[in-house]
Amino acid sequence: MTLLDGKKTSEAIQSEIAAEVAKIKEQGGKAPHLAAILVGHDGGSMTYVNNKVLACERVGFESTLLHYEDDVTEEELLTKIKEINQNPEIDGLIVQLPLPKHISSDRVLEVMDYRKDVDGFHPINVGHMVAGLPAYLPATPYGIMQLLERYNIDTKGKHCVVVGRSNIVGTPISILMSKCTIPGEATVTICHRNTVDLAHHTRQADILIVAVGRPGLITEDMVKEGAVVIDVGTTRVTDASRARGWRLRGDVDFDNVAPKCSYITPVPGGVGPLTISMLLMNTLKAAKKEIY
Ligand code: GUN
Repeated sequence: MTLLDGKKTSEAIQSEIAAEVAKIKEQGGKAPHLAAILVGHDGGSMTYVNNKVLACERVGFESTLLHYEDDVTEEELLTKIKEINQNPEIDGLIVQLPLPKHISSDRVLEVMDYRKDVDGFHPINVGHMVAGLPAYLPATPYGIMQLLERYNIDTKGKHCVVVGRSNIVGTPISILMSKCTIPGEATVTICHRNTVDLAHHTRQADILIVAVGRPGLITEDMVKEGAVVIDVGTTRVTDASRARGWRLRGDVDFDNVAPKCSYITPVPGGVGPLTISMLLMNTLKAAKKEIY
């Protein structure tokens, strides 16, 4: 069994990005600039956004964090996004999800300039991805593709079973895995909450990608011998033995599943660290106008 080391892969990608930024600056160019909008005080969202801003600093990007209270109006956010759309200093924009219930995330995403949508959530980017046209790929699926590529995992003709159909992970990774690219060329099954006999499907998987947010959902009896297992779940569970009172747990029962696998991602340290690196990669591409 080989551990897919997301932390190491993520560090390698960030070094590559930092080297490219240094070169741009040497040649008199400007640093890529990411703007992040955060609404409210959810602990998880604040940590994610802070980590994105810190990662920007590490690779030499500029960043702007716009933090709003929970009661910000949709109108106020839309006005700010339109202003950022017009600002040539800012290359990429993300709005941390989820948003409070009184704000429509669909309207927020649609008003963004798709050329600055480095999360790849705008309908134009989603459409381009489905059509196989140049697009910003959402960071987590993009990170999974990087892991598969950098570990030379053969996906062609394999049966890939995806558990979860979210817009952020399950749906885009199922599309990317089926495309005629490498990684890709897989036969894909998508499972979700209404799937009858989930274990029947997961046991058929050469490559099993799980992104539902239910700790320990995938047990040893649900995985084929020699499978590649990618665990996207990262849920905080109470753990009194830790000073902070919690730890992260994946959707896969790692201790019992790992011995059966050819490759598996740990949680934490698997897919998670790659998400930020791929957001940085998209921001670099935005600054270089590589996609649009
Ligand atoms: N919420 C959960 N994942 C993400 C992400 O990748 N980007 C944003 N903007 N919000 C998220």
